[in-house]
Order: sequence, then C-alpha cells, then structure tokens
Amino acid sequence: TQARLVLDRDFTVGEVPRRIFGSFVEHMGRCVYTGIYEPGHPAADERGFRTDVLDLVREMGVSVVRYPGGNFVSGYRWEDGVGPVDQRPRRLDGAWHTVETNAFGLHEFVDWARVAGVEVMEAVNLGTRGVEAARQLVEYANHPGGTALSDLRAANGHPEPFDIRLWCLGNEMDGPWQMGAKTPEEYGRIAQETAKAMRLVDPTIEVVACGSSNSGMPTFGTWEQTVLRHAYEYVDYVSLHAYYQEDGGDHASFLASAVDMDHFIESVVATADAVRAAGKHTKRINLSFDEWNVWYQRGKDTPDQPHVIEREGVWREHPRIIEDEYDVTDAVVVGTFLNSLLRHGDRVKVANQAQLVNVIAPIRSEPGGPAWRQSIFWPFARMSALAHGQILRVAATSDRYDAGKFGDTDLVDASATWDEEHGRVALFLAHRGLDAAADVTVDLRGWTGARVTRAEVLTIPEGGDRFTASTQDRPDAVGLVPLDDVQVDGSTATVRLPALSWAV
Ligand code: AHR
Repeated sequence: TQARLVLDRDFTVGEVPRRIFGSFVEHMGRCVYTGIYEPGHPAADERGFRTDVLDLVREMGVSVVRYPGGNFVSGYRWEDGVGPVDQRPRRLDGAWHTVETNAFGLHEFVDWARVAGVEVMEAVNLGTRGVEAARQLVEYANHPGGTALSDLRAANGHPEPFDIRLWCLGNEMDGPWQMGAKTPEEYGRIAQETAKAMRLVDPTIEVVACGSSNSGMPTFGTWEQTVLRHAYEYVDYVSLHAYYQEDGGDHASFLASAVDMDHFIESVVATADAVRAAGKHTKRINLSFDEWNVWYQRGKDTPDQPHVIEREGVWREHPRIIEDEYDVTDAVVVGTFLNSLLRHGDRVKVANQAQLVNVIAPIRSEPGGPAWRQSIFWPFARMSALAHGQILRVAATSDRYDAGKFGDTDLVDASATWDEEHGRVALFLAHRGLDAAADVTVDLRGWTGARVTRAEVLTIPEGGDRFTASTQDRPDAVGLVPLDDVQVDGSTATVRLPALSWAV
C-alpha cells in the first residue's frame, strides 16, 4: 500500500482549537460514582476524588469536560446537587433507570475540574425545565455576589464565582427517547429564549444549541435550519453527536466511519452558513461535536458486555451501564475521528469524546480496585499532547479500498499540525488496511533541516489480533511502541505503517 502526503508550512487551516480535546462526564452508570468519585477508595483524596483516575485524565490531556449529561440532564434539578450533602434528595433518574443520590453535584464537579485542570462545560435542562431554572443556574454559578443565588453559592462553600464560560442548551432535544423532546420549532424558540435570559445574567457566556442526535435522524438538516433560524443571534455553536460501531463483522465500513464524520461536519457547516446568508447575519456559528466515540449500541461479539440498561425491576445506584471494552480496531477508528475533528478545526471549535470514565470510556476503573487505560486512550492522549499551533492542510493521495457503505476510501488517513514555537510538525496517521503495511511519503515543503524527534505506533501486538484489548488483568495489552521505520532525507520523510495501525 502506498500513500503520499504533502504538507506546506504556509498552507494552514487555522489554530488548533484546544477545546476539541474535550470529554464528557454524565451521571450515568459508573462515570461519576466509582469513576471519578469514590470516597473510601484507597486512592481517593479527602473530597472522594479518585487520584488514580485524575492522574489518567491529566495524562490524557483533556481540555474541557461536559457535565452533567447527556440524557440525564433532561430530568435533572441542579438545586438537588448543591448544599449540605446529607440534606440532598435521592431521586429517580428516568434516563438510565437509576437512583441518583446527589452526593456529587455542581460544587464537587467544579472542584474536581480544577484539580483535573479542565474547563467546565455545563448543560442546562431544557427537557423537564426551562428558561427560569437555566438563568438561575447561570446566576448561581457566575454572579459575583450580593444576590440570593450568588450568596447561596458562597454559603455553600464557593465565594468566588465558578466562571463557567461554555453552556449547552439541553441535550439531544430531537430524540424521541429524550425527556421533554421537542419539535424543531418548539426547541428553536425555547433555545432562543433560554440563551437570551442566560446572557442577560452573564453576557460573556458561550452557548451551544442542540443540533441533531445523529445524522440519521429523520429531521437532520431541517432541525439545524429551523433551530438556527430562531436562535442564530443568541447562540455561538450548534452541536453534533455521533457514535459508530462495527456491525456484523463489517470492518471495512467501520474503519471508514470518519468519512461519515467528515460528511456530517461539512453538512452542518453548510446548513449553518445557509441560515447565515438567508438571515443576513454577520457572525458565524461554529460546531460543538459534543458527543462522539465508538459505542457498541447493538452489542459486540465479545461475551459479558455489560451494556444493557435495566428498564424494569429494582432501581439501583450507579449500575454498570455500557462499559464497552475497546480493542485495536477501535483505537484506529478513534484516531481517524480525531483526524477528522482536527482537519475541520476552522469550524469545529469544541469536541467531547463520550464519555470519560467507565461509560464508553478511554479510562476504566473498578470499585475499590485499579484504574487503567483502554486502547482508545492513546490516540487521544498523543494528539492532545502534540497538536499545537497551526493545523496544516494535508494534501493526501492514498491507495484506496472498498469501504462497504462508505464507498471507495483512502487506506491512509492523516492530519498534521505545525507548532512554530517549538519548531515541531506533528503528523497523525491511521492505516485502515488489514493485510499489508503502508509506505507513506511525506513531502515537507517550507521546512529545512527536518529530523524525526519521536515516532510511535499503536497496532496489533505480538501474539494478538485486531480484537486485542487492554483489560484489568492485562492493562498494557494495547499501547504505543516505538515506530522504527521513519526516515527524513532533506524535505522528504518516509514512514512504513504496519497493517491496521495508528501512528504519530
Ligand atoms: O453518552 C451516552 C448517551 O448518548 C448520552 O446520554 C446521550 O446524550 C446520547 O444519546
């Protein structure tokens, strides 16, 4: 397999939006409880935050975390999660058929985010609630003091405002599964009025309107158009959500899922810009891809996948829900998603992998036990660490393959950045081919005296196969190893990628 890439120092897409290295913590399954928070765990600090998990979050380089949902937020009363913990109510969460203890809420999350070094992205409930609860939450969180709500925040332990910049206007409001789901007209109006009221409390916030729950929704396209026609001047971003999986052994399509992600992004950009033109608006609406990942919603061919959501019978606290195990193939696909997001960094300004811990997550943890990195941790961690400065426009010519439902697709997928400050080009490569290595030639135009400082690859480990995964018993089964087959001669680099691999 052959591929040729051309990078030119002067051909850039824009600055790397660091918020694309975001993640998501929902009150769902064991993401919060026994995920980031587990009082009594040997590694927990005095607040109950698991320091083993915190170390991994920092290592992963997460920039921003969306909270508290997800479907959960559409039935959530934020007031339940503030004030003395022993007085907080236990509630039923209809989204995940779970008992929510409210032991963890807004203050705990903000404290956790500070320790983790991440920005908070807060969602308001536009399912069962509306304008009033949302504007009150902004006042509680961001107003300096001297009002009932801001003084209550101080009395609850935080005299300084939380200063939350990024706000989501509900979650997946087009989805029939969502509590308080809405038509595009209904949602467009409430999104506009809620954003307006929130900005009247704090005009400096940035606001995300819900786009479609996925590009297969019957209203995809018209939803974005209608919502933005109403809310254009009041919001800054429109959201996208997408989950992919390998269906029935169709690895050819699965490995090309980022083609669909590219198409999804470009369709939403086109729709937002069409509303801009028709409405004679001057500003641009950017994209917040605030849920994306591999998710085996239709089961996986590995046994004991705890992905079933209990709908009947007992209500439990933090049950195991969708604790997907990720293998080598999943990591390569996740690498291509990150490439897609980075390539579109001129318009995708926020992106959140869903979720952070245990629930379809790069980090796993066991109650009372260890925490470990899943295979999909690695592309994220390396891209977050190395994608700085300018996004380069990659001109790629690659051998192609028949990618099933996505048609002819490049075998080699790439993105790249140029960090002038450190004099460093970072190149992120995925090889979708299962059968042969790929020889990649990289034409580095505009740089002189280039040398390779570091090259790593994630691929099928010796004795393993494409389904090999890192588990509690074998936490290092899948990881990065040095990539030796890299040379630079003048301004040409050559790289040999093993079959099915992700490399940096
Ligand atoms: O991330 C899991 C769920 O997927 C979220 O709660 C919801 O927004 C989406 O459907």
